[in-house]
Amino acid sequence: MNQLLSIDDLSVSDIEQLMELSSSFSEVLRRSVPKVPALRGKTVVMAFFEDSTRTRASFDLAARRLSADVATFAAGASSLSKGESIRDTVETISAMGVDALVVRHPHPGVPAAISRYTTAAVVNAGDGRHQHPTQALLDLYTLKTTIGDVAGKRVLLCGDILNSRVARSNIALFTKMGAEVLVCGPHTLLPPHSSTHMFGEPVQVVRSIDSVISSIDVAYMLRIQNERIADAALPSVREYRTMYGLTTDRAAKMASHAVIMHPGPINRGVEIDADVADSEASLITAQVAAGVSVRMAVMYQLLGPGQFHDASVDFDPDAVSNPGQRTPDGDSSAADQPLPDPSATLNLTEPTAPTPVQETAS
Ligand code: CP
Repeated sequence: MNQLLSIDDLSVSDIEQLMELSSSFSEVLRRSVPKVPALRGKTVVMAFFEDSTRTRASFDLAARRLSADVATFAAGASSLSKGESIRDTVETISAMGVDALVVRHPHPGVPAAISRYTTAAVVNAGDGRHQHPTQALLDLYTLKTTIGDVAGKRVLLCGDILNSRVARSNIALFTKMGAEVLVCGPHTLLPPHSSTHMFGEPVQVVRSIDSVISSIDVAYMLRIQNERIADAALPSVREYRTMYGLTTDRAAKMASHAVIMHPGPINRGVEIDADVADSEASLITAQVAAGVSVRMAVMYQLLGPGQFHDASVDFDPDAVSNPGQRTPDGDSSAADQPLPDPSATLNLTEPTAPTPVQETAS
């Protein structure tokens, strides 16, 4: 396996292996010289077609800590602005002898489409509202190192579930690892779901954050995007905070052992109050720190001697290289809708206008 496009690409055994490796790399990062030669001679290209702070910096650092050479491809300063297609751009970069492409793009499915144009490993660093697998893995690792295994834990995801790749990835990962996942948000920001399932995964949809706040182990708050106000999915920021925000009052009702997470960037005073984000229960900084060791583990498995050798993993490249032909996250529920094939809205093989930067829920 040389790509990580979705949490669906990973078996429980793969995930456990990644957690163990992340722990080893965390130990490396605590050394006076936090670097290992594992990927010496390998070249990793950061191909970010959308803004990023955490993901981009931590993938970059992770590759360097593994002694890989790192090149950065900035979409806005590339020949894409001269009309070059994404396919030609990817084939051009690949011809330079690249071992891995770390791809972020505002359109769902583009990293999978790119994987068809290169023999290099491809890692999805966030594609529209589809997936952000390394965010979910670093969240799992953060929980593992603070409150322990998520199996049996009650994890509440609250906010814009519909547009959040983090929510999709974490619902898939947390349920796979045995957590009890609860979901809460304005009905305009919830995807189609049944009473027991969302994205094909078993979840409990709760109407009110107040009804569960005292019984959860994890409150995972999602960023609210300004355009959700503009497109009338939300009445106002103030009303959102009142109904769904993790306010100081609500946080005070959480169990003493419970923790608070957010993938960032955060809107203080909207989905989470500033003092709550900075409180002892908050793992937000720990999540960012975990990003480097977890992304080291992912790149080591894709490019290094690790390489996902688990024979029980029946990896089918066709199953992930054409996301528009299947329901995201391996979902077969008729209640959920498939994401669009990126080729339907974005021509990857013809000259393109510069890709507009879209804000996506991360
Ligand atoms: N969590 C996350 O993906 O943040 P960035 O957009 O800063 O990478």
